[in-house]
Amino acid sequence: MNELYDRVVSHAAQGSVLRRLLPQDRAGFVEMNRDASVRKYFPGLLTPDESVGEIVRIEQNWQTHGFGPWSVDVRGEFAGILGLKWVSLDVPFAPAVELLYRLIPRFWDQGLATEGSLAALEFGFCELRLDTLVAFAVEANTRSRRVMEKVGMVYRSGFDHPSIPETSPLRRHVLYTMKRADWHQRPFTNSDRGVTIGRSMQNRSSTRPTAPVSSFDDVRQVQDWYS
Ligand SMILES: CC(C)(COP(=O)(O)OP(=O)(O)OC[C@H]1O[C@@H](n2cnc3c(N)ncnc32)[C@H](O)[C@@H]1OP(=O)(O)O)[C@@H](O)C(=O)NCCC(=O)NCCS
Repeated sequence: MNELYDRVVSHAAQGSVLRRLLPQDRAGFVEMNRDASVRKYFPGLLTPDESVGEIVRIEQNWQTHGFGPWSVDVRGEFAGILGLKWVSLDVPFAPAVELLYRLIPRFWDQGLATEGSLAALEFGFCELRLDTLVAFAVEANTRSRRVMEKVGMVYRSGFDHPSIPETSPLRRHVLYTMKRADWHQRPFTNSDRGVTIGRSMQNRSSTRPTAPVSSFDDVRQVQDWYS
């Protein structure tokens, strides 16, 4: 098992952690992807089966690359996903690794996306030793862009998302990037913001998974669990 699987990132003030997705996250994940406000800047709502398909792709990202989106766990409750993902799109800035986030609306505006993104950037630059991280969003998605700006990412350009039809208002995207050197020169530290990055889940009884994390080693088994 890749040792990074056990990585837990916490924001102590809000009792939130980033951890690997677990079977009990399925209902919240489906709920999130059926919410029109969450999907405002995505092409449509997802059916439960489509959500399971996305969970499987998240696990494949972990298995292939040793990183992927985490589950945002707020005092034991699934709040959304956030983390790093390999960009498999045919875009000028690929190959690249992107920062992504998506939360259930009742968890918005509490700083969770910003604090989690700071932890994910630290993980990407300091643990994975990546040179650059990117983030992108539909041009009109000001909430998402605000998070990118608050963590210090810089607007680079607009681009057309290759998977979205030319006639769609969602096609036009904006690209933000950050380099490792910029991360190290940022005017604040994660601990200034209450974000810590740790290795062990053993003492977190409220967030301890009910299934062993190593069970995710087999993607087919994951699919069975979530179906
Ligand atoms: C984008 C998202 C993850 C942000 O989560 P969040 O936890 O609410 O983010 P934070 O609380 O850390 O920060 C949100 C910021 O956006 C600001 N904001 C809220 N509404 C806004 C708006 N309409 N226009 C501009 N900024 C806005 C908030 O004020 C806050 O900034 P501030 O701290 O300077 O006040 C969440 O809204 C979401 O899941 N959206 C749907 C999915 C999505 O679009 N994901 C991104 C795809 S690229």
